[in-house]
Amino acid sequence: MQRLTPTLRNDQVDEALISVINSLQTCAKEISFRVGQGELAGVLGSTLSENIQGETQKKLDILSNQLIKEILLECQHVAAVASEEEEGIVLGHPEGEYLVAFDPLDGSSNIDINSMVGTIFSILPVPQDGPRDASMFLQPGRNQIAAGYILYGPSTMMVFTTGKGVRVLTLDQTVGEFLVTNLNLTIEPETTEFAINMSNFRHWQEGMQNYIDDLLAGTSGPRAKNFNMRWVAAMVADVHRILCRGGLFAYPWDARSMDKPYKLRLLYEGNPMAWLVEQAGGAAHSGEERILDIVPTDIHQRVGVILGARNEVATCLRYLRYEEGSQLDSKPV
Ligand code: F6P
Ligand code: MN
Repeated sequence: MQRLTPTLRNDQVDEALISVINSLQTCAKEISFRVGQGELAGVLGSTLSENIQGETQKKLDILSNQLIKEILLECQHVAAVASEEEEGIVLGHPEGEYLVAFDPLDGSSNIDINSMVGTIFSILPVPQDGPRDASMFLQPGRNQIAAGYILYGPSTMMVFTTGKGVRVLTLDQTVGEFLVTNLNLTIEPETTEFAINMSNFRHWQEGMQNYIDDLLAGTSGPRAKNFNMRWVAAMVADVHRILCRGGLFAYPWDARSMDKPYKLRLLYEGNPMAWLVEQAGGAAHSGEERILDIVPTDIHQRVGVILGARNEVATCLRYLRYEEGSQLDSKPV
């Protein structure tokens, strides 16, 4: 079975980028060990403490952030990193060719219940001109050079794309190496499964409420088929399921706070997942535009997310537009 580096070389990935992705792989192994230790990580995890300056008592999301930051900044090809856990960017090597945005431990509340969490990453090129500050990261997701996630579940998996399909590797714990287990994940265009936090129903736009109502109506409603629902409450795990067996995932616009009407972040959640899903033949939309076309104005910007099976995403968007196009007198299906 193939390892990570030969897989990247087959995809004609340049050596500088391979080195950045290998650094992420090193982070993944360390975090995987700590997540696996669970409650014991604060005690037994200290066996790895030399690598991360003994920060063993910190919560795992803070620890993961420090670990990824330190390992990435040691890589001479990384010019700067942006993390969910850091307010500003952290500069790396002046000659570095790449920027890395990451969510160190997505779904970290799942840690407390021994459920799935993951690290999400997005790699962008350093812009040719302009200041070396946070503005370097304000590029649309379509500029990504590589993106993916590491899922810490019953097994640890790395799922990534460099624009040549979606590659999946599984961490072989016996040798401590990621080995290729699927070279081309794809998402069927049709589905009968969706993932959404239903407790937010009353906060959604009318179009989204109508869409979900019609999914719930099953064979007796206008969709004329039954839909199943799944919700892990960690985006990384919910999107992984969609890449593995299809479906639609949504964290849509939400009226709870007009200041931050969305939950998920564009740079290190929306963009990498959108690119993976598109690479697998699915679609990813904010409700207003293709996620990968959004030009960010802030590194921690939030975004609406509707992604997965492309025909189902299109149907959901028709419901959202129907609400706006008030001259229409019938529902979209
Ligand atoms: O990172 C944000 C996140 O943890 C996602 O992984 C997940 O999809 C979402 O929040 C769940 O939030 P909530 O439980 O509030 O719906
Ligand atoms: Mn997250």
